[in-house]
Amino acid sequence: MTQAPALRVPLRDAERVRRALLDEGALRHDLKVRRESGELLLPLLDGAPRMGYPVAVAEFEPADDSPRHYSDLLAHLPEAERALLPSAFDVVGHVLIVKVPDALRHREREIAQALLEATPRVRTVAQDEGVAGELRVRALRVLAGDADTRTEHAEHGVRIRVDPATCYFSPRLATERIRVARLVSPGERVVDLMAGVAPFALVIAKHSQAARVDAVDLNPEAVAFARENVALNKVADRVFPEQADARAWSAAHPGVADRVITNLPHTAHAFLEDALRVLRPGGGAWHYHCIQAEEDLGRHLAELSARAHEAGRGLRVSATRVVRAYSPRERHFAVDFEVGAPAEDEG
Ligand SMILES: C[S@@+](CC[C@H](N)C(=O)[O-])C[C@H]1O[C@@H](n2cnc3c(N)ncnc32)[C@H](O)[C@@H]1O
Repeated sequence: MTQAPALRVPLRDAERVRRALLDEGALRHDLKVRRESGELLLPLLDGAPRMGYPVAVAEFEPADDSPRHYSDLLAHLPEAERALLPSAFDVVGHVLIVKVPDALRHREREIAQALLEATPRVRTVAQDEGVAGELRVRALRVLAGDADTRTEHAEHGVRIRVDPATCYFSPRLATERIRVARLVSPGERVVDLMAGVAPFALVIAKHSQAARVDAVDLNPEAVAFARENVALNKVADRVFPEQADARAWSAAHPGVADRVITNLPHTAHAFLEDALRVLRPGGGAWHYHCIQAEEDLGRHLAELSARAHEAGRGLRVSATRVVRAYSPRERHFAVDFEVGAPAEDEG
């Protein structure tokens, strides 16, 4: 038996939560899930989302039909090195993205080879050298397998082609994307001002009756993939990718949207006026992303509210969700605002 942190989920919610964790690559495959007094115990990888359920350490049997955990293939490493092995990684299509710590740099090819052998469907293992710049592109260095990082990822029944070495894409936002899609009412026009390869737009088009989704992004590579994805998922009549700066697009399309998404967590606050301008004069919904320490979030949102007031709009928080841990102190938050007409302004 192995001890591991587990999400305890009532059986009625278990399948939905298990699928969401699988989509996020957050479930341990090397351990068997098990039932205990009306709950399913789901063994978690580090950094897995809690999704509102309690976490407790539990005992698990190894999953006999699953491949071995990659660390089993590295049993020969000294214990001090094994203790530093990464416990979490992302899988985008056939590309596994991992951060091997500097202290294990001399072992990185060996570690990558073990990940390649132990992880189903993975053909490339790449070192994550960090996300940088305005376009939020992740620098990748292929450590093992196929050098081609162009791939196709499946999420909520949508096919997403992407090259994670030239465009931003994170499978960890899968739960956030379906959550937003389920909020969309029939006939809505949705605008994603920082759409990347259009995963929000595609999931919304597939899982709602939105009339139209505009997917705007500055990165030409991302927009080329977005166009390919629109054709692949047969949603060309409803999803419209465009290569543009969010500010310029917003200035050219005031008052068109029922719902706007700004998923650029480090700087989305700088696009407040642009997001509000895109919404209909009567208001709408704004899905805002930010990276903040929990204790600073209230003050940050109050500042946004004051700026919205100056722009003649009222903001009301209708939901706040932790998307993922960003650093020991900070979290990536998704905040839903109801944006009111000037007359409804709360001040
Ligand atoms: C964190 S990524 C999010 C992408 C997408 N929403 C997703 O979930 O995969 C932020 C995106 O904003 C784009 N971006 C950055 N500055 C921009 C701007 N001024 N106007 C439009 N897009 C911008 C980047 O190219 C990048 O694709």
